[in-house]
Amino acid sequence: MSKLRIAVQKSGRLNEDSMRILKDIGISIDNGIDQLKASARNFPVEVFYLRNGDIPQYLKDGVVDAAIIGENVLIEKGNGINVVEKLGFSTCRVCIAVPKTTEYSSIKDLEGKRIATSYPNTVEMYLKENGVNANLHIINGSVEIAPNIGLADAICDIVSSGSTLFKNNLKEVETILTSEAVLAVSPILTDEKQAILDTIQFRIKSVLKGRD
Ligand code: PRP
Ligand code: MG
Repeated sequence: MSKLRIAVQKSGRLNEDSMRILKDIGISIDNGIDQLKASARNFPVEVFYLRNGDIPQYLKDGVVDAAIIGENVLIEKGNGINVVEKLGFSTCRVCIAVPKTTEYSSIKDLEGKRIATSYPNTVEMYLKENGVNANLHIINGSVEIAPNIGLADAICDIVSSGSTLFKNNLKEVETILTSEAVLAVSPILTDEKQAILDTIQFRIKSVLKGRD
């Protein structure tokens, strides 16, 4: 019998809540953090621990069948991947921020400016909608430091509590989108795997209802 391959974030803010929801729906996994793959003991499921940014491509290629992932990552990289369930945790927003001392009245103020981000497609889309041209610097982490070291005039990154912005003397000036964790599914799924997914989705719905 085939197993449904589910990707979850290897480490980071989604990992813990992702493992909790799997547990709550009755899928018990020996969570060896050093392992990149684990099988459920009582259900035809394998869990793959992956880097967030790699998950959309694995879904597209059908290397994994489903994933618990931030909507924001799918918006950035996930064309054609179906979201089948919103999971209600890991809420955040993707924002543009500038130094507190920068005078800012509208997005037009970013014309010709340098923006550091890990979400180039999302920013590009937003700038285009607003008819603004800016120079993007793609960095993969610690984005908020960029203005302080003279690398950029603004940043675009996810904001959750706002504490990283605060600590780096930045202020939020645009909210591009809001996001939460979702159950996403590969476009390539056999009937057998679809049936396993249906069971999982049914259980997730019950668990989420109970949490309300
Ligand atoms: C994430 C994100 C923001 C911060 C937002 O970074 O890139 O920097 O969290 O959360 P907050 O609003 O609650 O401060 P993370 O700590 O995951 O590190 P990284 O950017 O280096 O990957
Ligand atoms: Mg960060």
